[in-house]
Amino acid sequence: MSDSATSIDKVMVVGGGGQMGNGIAQVAAVAGLEVTLVDLDQGDLDRGIGRIERSLERLVRKEQLSDTEAKEARERITTSTDLEGTARDTDHAIESIVEDVDVKRDVFRRLDAVARPDVILASNTSQFAISAIAAATGRPDRVVGTHWFNPPPVMRLIEIVRGVETSDDTVEKMQALAQRYGKETIVCQKDTQGFLTSRLIMALIAESMRIVEEGIASPEDVNRACQLAFNHAMGPLQTVDLGGLDTYIKASEAMAHHYGDRFKPTQQVRALVNAGHYGYKTGRGFSDYGTAQ
Ligand SMILES: NC(=O)c1ccc[n+]([C@@H]2O[C@H](COP(=O)([O-])OP(=O)(O)OC[C@H]3O[C@@H](n4cnc5c(N)ncnc54)[C@H](O)[C@@H]3O)[C@@H](O)[C@H]2O)c1
Repeated sequence: MSDSATSIDKVMVVGGGGQMGNGIAQVAAVAGLEVTLVDLDQGDLDRGIGRIERSLERLVRKEQLSDTEAKEARERITTSTDLEGTARDTDHAIESIVEDVDVKRDVFRRLDAVARPDVILASNTSQFAISAIAAATGRPDRVVGTHWFNPPPVMRLIEIVRGVETSDDTVEKMQALAQRYGKETIVCQKDTQGFLTSRLIMALIAESMRIVEEGIASPEDVNRACQLAFNHAMGPLQTVDLGGLDTYIKASEAMAHHYGDRFKPTQQVRALVNAGHYGYKTGRGFSDYGTAQ
């Protein structure tokens, strides 16, 4: 066990079986940390491990990692369904579960009850105000947002988000950890819904969805417009298909609650979600991808 959070050697990723959680775990393991994926059942964990193994293989094929580095990173990852048991012996926890503030608060309350007092608890929430999560704990100064981007092994930014009580020391430690991960950081200085990045991308996505719903252009042409005119690596509707339309609906409803109708989901995206079309993970969203990926 490490004696303080200045030495973060062992991290746990809650929701490690999920889309973002397994990517975050992979980055931490490649950076040399011991990582435990925690999820609700073994099936979720097996799915997460499968994704990590395939991703490490891809990095070896692309010669971005050696065989040995990939093997050692994989060996640093373990799995558990025991949240409390894992939290008792961790140096840092990052939560990346379903985008529901009450469920997140419950996880933070449970982590806070057993983790060492110095342990920083971070949330990968896309938009909830961090103080709403921190208030469920007795250590709001050591609760922070570390908002990753999809897919975590590829995207270079981690947005660090302050809650009302987050200490400077906590922000500095998360900046140092991000550096170990090989990531860049920005800091959202105020406790706010949607931070910088989600307000920006969700405004673009909402306007793109309205353009499509009004019949002005196809989803593919909206994506091409942003790629070719603005040099975006991926169009906004492809970005939201990748992130998951089910997750998007939850996030946009919460944003609309705070900022008004400009973030409200369109009827068309609601209809896609009602029909079970969530984007890449089901094979169809605004575009058709053939099979689930
Ligand atoms: N998908 C994106 O592009 C993206 C980008 C940035 C941030 N985020 C945020 O990351 C978080 C996760 O998103 P995702 O897309 O990876 O979701 P996901 O649905 O793919 O994964 C969530 C995982 O959490 C697990 N889980 C749910 N409740 C749990 C609990 N109480 N304890 C342990 N595990 C639990 C689920 O079984 C699942 O494996 C959300 O807060 C989301 O807003 C998502």
